[in-house]
Amino acid sequence: MSIKSAIDAITATLPDIITTNTAVLTEHGQNEAYFPNTPPDAVVFPRSTQEVSQIVKICAAHECPITAYGTGTSLEGHQLTFQGGITLNMREMNKLLDVHPEDLDCVVQPGITREELNTELRATGLFFPIDPGANAAIGGMAATRASGTTAVRYGTMRENVLALEVVLADGRIIRTGTRARKSSAGYDLTKLFVGSEGTLGIITEITLRLQGIPEAVSAATCTFDDFETAVNTVITTIQMGIPMARIEFVDEMMAKGFNLHDPTANLPEKPQLFIEFHGTEAGVKEQAETFGAIVEDMGGGHFRWTTHAEERTALWKLRHNAYYATLALRPQAQARNTDVCVPISRLAEAVRMAKTRAAHYDLTMAVVGHVGDGNFHCGIMVGDADEHARADGFCHELNELALKLDGTVSGEHGIGRGKMKYMAAEHGDALSLMRDIKRSFDPQNIMNPGKMIPSN
Ligand code: LAC
Ligand code: ZN
Repeated sequence: MSIKSAIDAITATLPDIITTNTAVLTEHGQNEAYFPNTPPDAVVFPRSTQEVSQIVKICAAHECPITAYGTGTSLEGHQLTFQGGITLNMREMNKLLDVHPEDLDCVVQPGITREELNTELRATGLFFPIDPGANAAIGGMAATRASGTTAVRYGTMRENVLALEVVLADGRIIRTGTRARKSSAGYDLTKLFVGSEGTLGIITEITLRLQGIPEAVSAATCTFDDFETAVNTVITTIQMGIPMARIEFVDEMMAKGFNLHDPTANLPEKPQLFIEFHGTEAGVKEQAETFGAIVEDMGGGHFRWTTHAEERTALWKLRHNAYYATLALRPQAQARNTDVCVPISRLAEAVRMAKTRAAHYDLTMAVVGHVGDGNFHCGIMVGDADEHARADGFCHELNELALKLDGTVSGEHGIGRGKMKYMAAEHGDALSLMRDIKRSFDPQNIMNPGKMIPSN
């Protein structure tokens, strides 16, 4: 293996798009996880699928690790080059290539961010709903099977990617899937690449499902005296089949973080839900009434409705900034972010245990979650080594708890480097099949090596 000879070969063929500038390398070594800065040896900014293919072929010839990079906002170290090599920053490939309004789909390059895409779609009356907290790139979102606040209604990237173009580990360019809404033709390689975290190939084009902007949208916050009532309200709502567009839990510590991050937020510092309904005027009204009756029954209330578009945007912007708001709780500290997901009926038990164990470890923690999916995050403040060790203990218990409750160690953040140690516990013997898949797609182990699939 020679990283240096790969860099020399790329520099000889594509001199304009490769850099080894220290500041650029350092920037690509940063992360929103808890890893030290881990810079690559070079960063390349491809402008086309052909260039990606050329670069991958060079890397294959020199056995040089190659890691795709979108916005660098993943939370488990996915984009970090722990074995050195080339970072492939996809930001130059950021075009909306095609929109088919009559089929409610579009084709994008991987570097476009979710907000850029929605800005470009504005005139079409369509939107792309998937919204992780960060303004992430669609390629990264596909690679990590991301979701966010609207998955309860519209699904995750798994349901919203129809087709892909991918550069394989030997430089071949393939297409998976079509624009048809369904297919029973062969193995579903699209779904295999979605969530493969760059370990099987480089995604260079994505065909996405779109949604019509609903006729009526209504959002609200409502509060509860204790978190159990809030969570039980969510469980009942989902079990009754109310088509929530968003239903997000925010505990009192998270509400405090939001107020510190944005003093205009002015949220009551109590357990609460942020909700949204999409539909016709009549449909939204009916859903809101049914939901209101459940909340009243459970003993919650103090609804604050936001019907104006700007107010709604402000509410969800606040929610999307949860990670940064957690950091506001204790300036100078870092935040460790967890991401477990359990069947909805086990949600109250999971959140209760998380709170009990965090108190046991004497950790400051904010809880926030896409609770309609049974998915929640604990944002834990970490300062000194002792606090890091206690956070480790807590995170470990939480992951084991999720598995015990028939859930998963990651609802949406993915495995990256941080959660590899749970792959065997979650998948059992199926992990050996994943290893076989990795080997057959990437026999030289150059595609984002050292991630997701533990080597033994
Ligand atoms: C969120 C991210 C951290 O839910 O997943 O805000
Ligand atoms: Zn989330």
